[in-house]
Amino acid sequence: MANVDLKNLTKKYGEVIAVQNMDLSIPHNEFLVLVGPSGCGKSTTLRMIAGLEEITSGEIYIGDQLVNEKDPKDRNVSMVFQNYALYPHMTVEENLGFSLKIAKVDKNEIETRVKEAVQILGLEELQKRKPSQLSGGQRQRVAMGRAIVRRPDAFLFDEPLSNLDAKLRTQMRTEIKKLHQKLKTTIIYVTHDQVEAMTLADRIIIMKDGYIEQIGSPIEVFNKPVNVFVATFIGSPPMNILTCDIISKDQKVKIKIDNEIYLDCPENFKDLFNNKSKVYLGIRAEDLKPVEKNTIDNNDWFFSKEIDLAEPLGTETQLFFHLNGKEIISRMYNPYPVSIGDKINFQIDTSKIHFFDIDTEKTLF
Ligand SMILES: Nc1ncnc2c1ncn2[C@@H]1O[C@H](COP(=O)(O)OP(=O)(O)O)[C@@H](O)[C@H]1O
Ligand SMILES: [Mg+2]
Repeated sequence: MANVDLKNLTKKYGEVIAVQNMDLSIPHNEFLVLVGPSGCGKSTTLRMIAGLEEITSGEIYIGDQLVNEKDPKDRNVSMVFQNYALYPHMTVEENLGFSLKIAKVDKNEIETRVKEAVQILGLEELQKRKPSQLSGGQRQRVAMGRAIVRRPDAFLFDEPLSNLDAKLRTQMRTEIKKLHQKLKTTIIYVTHDQVEAMTLADRIIIMKDGYIEQIGSPIEVFNKPVNVFVATFIGSPPMNILTCDIISKDQKVKIKIDNEIYLDCPENFKDLFNNKSKVYLGIRAEDLKPVEKNTIDNNDWFFSKEIDLAEPLGTETQLFFHLNGKEIISRMYNPYPVSIGDKINFQIDTSKIHFFDIDTEKTLF
């Protein structure tokens, strides 16, 4: 059981910088998720921790021990991959015990640990089967079992659910979360799927181009994204981002959303807009509510627009329309039938909006 610390960790492949100056402290028992688009350096980070990839510079500590020079097998971490890499000619229990056998662990001890993993993962019925006789989800469970028997200080998961269909992915996600509660150990989990990241993580790291963009709890990164990238990466559908003009006249500040819509700048934002003529405005689809006119509060923004498209999803209908040439999505809960061309009233709670600097794309607080 251990904490994992990365200090100024960098990995270059020739000219390509895969991971840049990463500093990170992962406390014991944390479920940490690295998320970001393909190629942002997630797998490289994980592989460096596992010792499968040489590091260019920096330090890696596992349980306060510097492991830079240690072989993968001496780091006491277990990695679970997307392709399960089970041995096809071995049964489930042979697959589970194999790494211990190689490590010359005592036979009784192997039996005990395999039995324990089988119990934890509910593989009792499948022990004598070969991988070809298992479903995708069952194979993934065996792959996790192989990691468990080693009783590692930390588990490293690299997109373990990517090969599964959507329904199974959701099921396995729940299983992995329960597994963490049972094992009480450090997990570093890599995914490109922000929903997976949100549902599993104690803390999320959002990466881009080898850098950490933001670290925080799922709620923090959702509610307080530090820049446009995080704001649009976390949450589905992605946050609506609009380019707006700031218009100051007669002591008043207005925000021009499009040619027809000028909204009063909320008091608490006025100071942020000093010397700015343009900003990005971010509004999540669920904060852009279709309403009846008479429910409007004074602090809310309100406007009407004709919609281009309505997509009924059952519990909600997603409404699409344009503002300033940009497609915008609104989520209508408790939906009623809407037709293309209908004029809909929209209300925005101004405590839920985000502003970003037009040049740096950083959040204006
Ligand atoms: N063996 C390698 N040789 C050269 N470049 C690599 C190698 N592995 C990864 N890269 C590059 O490093 C960057 C990060 O890759 P990776 O860590 O696999 O990203 P992710 O897992 O987030 O998709 C990418 O630009 C990728 O092309
Ligand atoms: Mg990867």
